[in-house]
Amino acid sequence: MPRITVPEFTGFKAARRKIAMVTAYDFPQARLVDAAGIEGILVGDSMSMVVQGHDNTLPVTLDEMIYHAEMVGRAVEHALVIVDMPFPSFHLGTHRAIENAGRILKETRCQAVKLEGGVEQAGTIAALVSAGIPVMAHCGLRPQSVHTLGGYKVQRDERELLADAKAAEKAGAFAIVLECIPRAIAKRITETVNIPTIGIGAGADCDGQVLVLHDLLGITTGYVPRFVKPYADLKTEVTRAVTKYRDEVRSGAFPAKEHGYD
Ligand code: KIV
Repeated sequence: MPRITVPEFTGFKAARRKIAMVTAYDFPQARLVDAAGIEGILVGDSMSMVVQGHDNTLPVTLDEMIYHAEMVGRAVEHALVIVDMPFPSFHLGTHRAIENAGRILKETRCQAVKLEGGVEQAGTIAALVSAGIPVMAHCGLRPQSVHTLGGYKVQRDERELLADAKAAEKAGAFAIVLECIPRAIAKRITETVNIPTIGIGAGADCDGQVLVLHDLLGITTGYVPRFVKPYADLKTEVTRAVTKYRDEVRSGAFPAKEHGYD
């Protein structure tokens, strides 16, 4: 089955098909989540926290994002693949933003970029789109602005949120992530714009949902936000399996005859 295209992804809204997205950061993860038949895979800058172990998403670099996105891009056959533009790769003028987003598309086989911002990034979104680079916008809680926002807080300014979403749509974004906003505001935005809204902590009325893979699988080692539903407890399972292996190595039960060669 060929990959979902950007116009097909946007068209899911009119077709009333709910969109399921998840993050992935390497080849086997991408293969597994793609095989589950989801519509979108995001190489998120959440990698900075869940893979690299940093406190926030600011440290991850463009080169690191491209290194991981290339593995994901090579693995995925079906889903649309989107790559986060890390801080501050789109803040240094539209020329640099096109150069950086262009590198992502040229070097990774991924199809689109995501950037945090609405009204204040409208010019950059329009410049990228006019260069042929599809952009997913990210409004509401913008983790790259954690210091300005004063923490990871629910964003409640309806007027500002609506203005951001409308500006992103007008600038040519093909979809918008809405992070950590009240359900009623997300519903209002979803009913107002013609492009899909992808919620994370934004309630059930969005056109789709996205979760961080490590949160979904229960392998996040740090803080897990309230909006996460863990669909597995792999942290417990990994510890159980490795502890059993350790015990069997110590007791001599592993390796058995069938694990060796005569
Ligand atoms: O970086 C990321 O994983 C994200 C999602 C949480 C939307 O931006």
